[in-house]
Amino acid sequence: HAVLSSYVAHVREFVANSSTSYLVALALVNIPLISIALNVLFQLLPRDKSRPPLVWHWIPVFGSAAGYGQDPIQFFLDCREKYGNVFTFVLLGRRVTVALGPEGNNFIMGGKHTVMSAEDAYTHLTTPVFGKDVVYDCPNEMLMEQKKFVKFGLRLENFRAYVSMIEDEVIQFMNKDSSFRIFQMNDINEWGRFDVLDAVSEITILTASRTLQGREVREAINKNYAQVFADLDGGFTPLHWLFPNLPLPSYRKRDLAQKKMSDLYIDIIRKRREAGNTSDEVDMIASLCNQKYRNGKVLEDHEIAHIMIALLMAGQHTSSATGSWILLHLAQRPEIVEEVYQEQVKHFRNPDGTWRSMEYEDIRQLPVLDCVIRETLRMHPPIHSIMRKLRDDVVVPQTLASPSEDGSYVVPKGDMVLSSAAVSQVDPLLWRNSFEWDPSRWADPEGVAQQAFKQYDDENGAKVDFGFGLVSKGTESPYQPFGAGRHRCIGEQFAYLQLSTVVATLIRRVEIKLETDMPKPNYQTMITLPKKPRNICYRRREFEQQA
Ligand code: HEM
Repeated sequence: HAVLSSYVAHVREFVANSSTSYLVALALVNIPLISIALNVLFQLLPRDKSRPPLVWHWIPVFGSAAGYGQDPIQFFLDCREKYGNVFTFVLLGRRVTVALGPEGNNFIMGGKHTVMSAEDAYTHLTTPVFGKDVVYDCPNEMLMEQKKFVKFGLRLENFRAYVSMIEDEVIQFMNKDSSFRIFQMNDINEWGRFDVLDAVSEITILTASRTLQGREVREAINKNYAQVFADLDGGFTPLHWLFPNLPLPSYRKRDLAQKKMSDLYIDIIRKRREAGNTSDEVDMIASLCNQKYRNGKVLEDHEIAHIMIALLMAGQHTSSATGSWILLHLAQRPEIVEEVYQEQVKHFRNPDGTWRSMEYEDIRQLPVLDCVIRETLRMHPPIHSIMRKLRDDVVVPQTLASPSEDGSYVVPKGDMVLSSAAVSQVDPLLWRNSFEWDPSRWADPEGVAQQAFKQYDDENGAKVDFGFGLVSKGTESPYQPFGAGRHRCIGEQFAYLQLSTVVATLIRRVEIKLETDMPKPNYQTMITLPKKPRNICYRRREFEQQA
């Protein structure tokens, strides 16, 4: 007691003799140091053995944000070395528990949705962008029904109509856009170049709006809506996931853009209803009009509008990132471009040198192109981290990870859990030359790739209906670029159709090559995109081969 009294007296005297600014400066220096010291101390103290290991970090709250943000794949692989398949890291004040490997994928992607909630993990990011009452702003059962409505729009007869529309958009783009100026000059000797992400993003939005989004949206893209879309997109970043509402311009622009986009769709729906002619359109708006939930409630106009925004956002960056990586890898491997080209020649070249249009059924019979897309999605799945938020404590299966032979880890309620197919898809323990882009691995009937694909998409294998039709379960596969389980992507077939048609149409017309090294992935965006410089050089193929 005497020591404490004397200490307090010393502190009082020190404070009385110091200026305010000196004290403030002292506090500013010491508070962070003290909190770092406490954080270190906390990690050194004996821990509850039932909690998964915590990734070592110096700075409280900030945690492992730098390592994860810079390169999540390397960060996870390094953490696995130290802590095993299951570990927790701190990400700007959140606790995130990662489960790796095919069993980790299954643990999270196959987890109960009532406990591992996607809506709790994502709604604060998605609802301001998509709008109310859809996707993660409604009960999970409603999302499943909304996915069923969308699947109805993604049916075969619509797909059949889409191929020639996509082809036409790509040809128009190549004939008009300034990035293809050298192509337009008809010179087969000169090389031009384009920024691959810029070009493919543009082509993706043009083709998606011409097909799924519909005539009116395609027209709007040419008018003032490019900026509106850019503003909405600016609200879909990791910052907006971490902090849903900050007084910054990007948040204000996001909210204004959401209202404008929503109004655009509602206006289209009303006009179409008034004209009474929705039936002959092959787009998604036509398919969503007049849909009813199982309880008899019709899908309202604002819900259709918000589903359309969600689809636009879900397909835009995923497909443009994948298309860009496909072209970058092809540009680096002329012998594989030649194989893709010869496959096109074999199936679609007329004797007079002109090209026959592709049909939807043809696209499914192009093994070289198919392997190229699958391999690109293996190495560059656009979404590297899939999150759920725990509504209850969850026990980790002992076979996945455990503190001891007779103990189990328990992940506490409130933690985020994270599954990363981006890791299992390049895991050197599972794949031969896992970091090498090698489409031929998909052609080996006995190889790991085929086995993984069978687990993911087995036509004859186990199927589950979560409310949007039968889907392959796929949760145990190391290969799941489109997710798995009840939140599995419904845009997969559309994405394949769009990517195949875009790549084939381009490769028919130009040779491509890469002048630089393969660009590094940028993980600081929601979707893993190629960093700059990412130019692709092109040269027009011989004129008589053009359509
Ligand atoms: C879900 C990937 C294109 C619509 C997902 C998920 C992934 C994914 C990984 C699961 C997310 C999770 O579990 O949290 C991709 C990739 C694409 C692509 C790699 C293209 C290469 C598209 C397109 C559309 C679309 C074109 C729309 C036409 C959806 C929808 C969901 C989804 C509606 C369901 C969300 C849920 O149930 O929670 N996608 N996607 N995606 N995707 Fe895609």
